[in-house]
Amino acid sequence: MSDNKIVLCMGSSCFTRGNNRNVDIIKKYVKDENIPAEIEGALCEDECRSGPHVSINGEKISGVTEDNILEVLREKL
Ligand code: FES
Repeated sequence: MSDNKIVLCMGSSCFTRGNNRNVDIIKKYVKDENIPAEIEGALCEDECRSGPHVSINGEKISGVTEDNILEVLREKL
């Protein structure tokens, strides 16, 4: 199985509104669950209003916060 690819927008809006914390939550989740994953940061995607954005295997998910990130990971990985 190839690695899952997770990309977090690290632009200042997405970063300060949640991806600064989401990155650690994601790293811990994939480690604890033994899920092969490659985690990368991306530049602002000019859609700040609907952020924070996280893409999982090419699917872009909007409004990802520390309150719903685990639900998103369980569903998508
Ligand atoms: S900072 Fe993420 S879309 Fe702008």
